[in-house]
Amino acid sequence: MSYQQEYARSIEDPQGFWKEKADAISWFKAPQTILSKDENGIDRWFADGELNTAYLALDYHVESGRGEQTALIYDSPVTGSKRKYSYNELLDEVSRTAGMLASQGVGRGDRVVIYMPMIPQAAMAMLACARLGAIHSVVFGGFAPNELAVRIDDAQPKVVLSASCGIEVNRIIDYKPMLDEALSIAKHKPVASIVFQREQSPAALDGSIDHDWMTLLASAEAVGCTPVLATDPLYVLYTSGTTGKPKGVVRDNGGHAVAMHYSMKAIYNMEAGDVFWAASDVGWVVGHSYIVYAPLIRGCTTVFYEGKPVFTPDAGAFWRVASEYKVRALFAAPTAFRAIKKEDPEGALVQQYDLSALDTIFMAGERLDPPTYEWTVEKTGKPVIDHWWQTETGWAIAGNLAGVELLPVKPGSATVPVPGFNVQILNESGEPAGANEQGFVAIKQPLPPSCLPTVWGDIDRFRSGYLEQFPGYYVSGDGGYLDEDGYLFIMGRVDDVINVAGHRLSTGEMEEVVAGHPAVAECAVIGINDSLKGQLPLGLILLKNGVDQDPAELEKELVQMVRKEIGPLACFQRALVVSRLPKTRSGKILRRSLRQIAAGEEYAIPSTIDDPASLPEIEALMAEAGVISVPA
Ligand code: COA
Ligand code: AMP
Repeated sequence: MSYQQEYARSIEDPQGFWKEKADAISWFKAPQTILSKDENGIDRWFADGELNTAYLALDYHVESGRGEQTALIYDSPVTGSKRKYSYNELLDEVSRTAGMLASQGVGRGDRVVIYMPMIPQAAMAMLACARLGAIHSVVFGGFAPNELAVRIDDAQPKVVLSASCGIEVNRIIDYKPMLDEALSIAKHKPVASIVFQREQSPAALDGSIDHDWMTLLASAEAVGCTPVLATDPLYVLYTSGTTGKPKGVVRDNGGHAVAMHYSMKAIYNMEAGDVFWAASDVGWVVGHSYIVYAPLIRGCTTVFYEGKPVFTPDAGAFWRVASEYKVRALFAAPTAFRAIKKEDPEGALVQQYDLSALDTIFMAGERLDPPTYEWTVEKTGKPVIDHWWQTETGWAIAGNLAGVELLPVKPGSATVPVPGFNVQILNESGEPAGANEQGFVAIKQPLPPSCLPTVWGDIDRFRSGYLEQFPGYYVSGDGGYLDEDGYLFIMGRVDDVINVAGHRLSTGEMEEVVAGHPAVAECAVIGINDSLKGQLPLGLILLKNGVDQDPAELEKELVQMVRKEIGPLACFQRALVVSRLPKTRSGKILRRSLRQIAAGEEYAIPSTIDDPASLPEIEALMAEAGVISVPA
């Protein structure tokens, strides 16, 4: 079937299309209702179907004769360890991990927060929750205790799972003290905190709710799969919004399983038995969907990599792993390839490895800039596919479908909408924009399976954040355009979200932290372009009257505050003291104009501005500080 036919069917007959895709997975009770509305009036898929996601990822394959096949390859250059788990072994580990959680009272609908580095136990923990019908919430290890505490208070977990430490390049990060600090900040108190001890830095387990993972596991009984409704949540994953409070994106079981299974073939062209590698982290949506769930649901072998694209030990790391395990599809963020290119511009290390098994390289998480695209194609000789997606959808909204029909590539474009996603560009008044006209990238409802049905515990935030701006549409928060051939170009966020090294962060949240400094009267944090990480935050600071603090000293203190409150992954490194911030007459900071100045773009002085001289003044300051980028 051609892409056009597949796409047209998904839009003209969504129920028929998705019923067919749902028939391809194994249900405990097959759904009779394909699309319906829930009590909030939100579209839901397969409402009366019953299944278990861990069953689909493990038991199903063991029962179908894949028990001896490798399910997961753990490769950890930071510890020098490698280990393969067959489907039989992974099923055994997950069943006992589920038993360990059940021994602490975890059951269907209970939440479990997972704060862990990239070790196989993290995947086992996620699958163990799924097995019990419990809801996991994984928090990325680079987040500071305060961020973890916010998530604990929102998710209200019965149990928290962690490890004694994570390992960055040449540096051990002790997780347990950060976890304990988070638990002391959080108002909600879990009944147990279970820690996996790593030999690189074991932790003291002396708290009243502390347990040693291996000790509990040794006495745990293997447990079977709890049937859940398709609409029951599988997980909550927090992502940055425009305010300081992260949003808990809810993922259901049924729609997610169907979309994961479909996408592995349609988008990535993967068959059961193939080796798939998403070089991300389980703390992000890419890790949930394409390190853990989709490859296993499809019966593939997933690579679980604890390392970086560079320095572990060199810029040949990706090529070494791809060649060693005969990876067929490699998926990573453009930042990773920019880092490799920086260290090995000629691609000399690529040549040292046999990449004959590698069919395709996929990139997502941020815009794939044409130079990085061209470099990767030239040095590897492989097709490179950009695809655009979000935590909210859990899978690609636009891409070039390797398993349906590959279309000609236009560098800078994520190619075409994925079947199920009716992507439209709307102007300010909600009318469809013409070809090549930039606007809000929106998706006409119904959204396909796997997309969020609510924000955890806050349906109003879901409605106001995504559905109310243009009735009948979901707004993505991204701006972009469709060209005359229907190719989608994503040009960046239209809100206060930035993307640093493929990590989604809220500038509003950083502003809240920076504003907490005693010398700061007011501030704006904006994203500026960075040749390695895509974007970096920049703080513009207005001091309180009468404060006389050395700007370099202040910058240092603010950097430390953001590291402590949000985490090192925010990469907040620059803060400039300004004498005034540009505002409208009603007092709103003109962030868009500030972003345009930093991007080196032409900017118009808005008619609503209170103090027209403030913008050129900041432009001069930014130029002096060397933070204005030269447009390509
Ligand atoms: N636990 C604790 N700290 C972490 C961490 C984790 N899991 N992940 C990152 N950090 C820390 C880093 O050590 C670093 O701290 P530092 O400022 O003290 O050096 C900081 O957070 C920033 O990390 P990072 O953005 O990863 O920068 P880096 O310079 O260490 O590495 C890259 C640069 C490009 C190699 C790296 O960003 C990368 O691999 N990017 C790809 C991102 C990705 O896969 N995103 C997933 C979305 S698909
Ligand atoms: P996250 O929810 O962390 O996956 O981040 C989603 C955001 O990352 C999107 O809203 C986009 O702004 C950006 N993004 C992800 N993939 C792409 C892509 N292929 N091209 C452009 N932007 C992307």
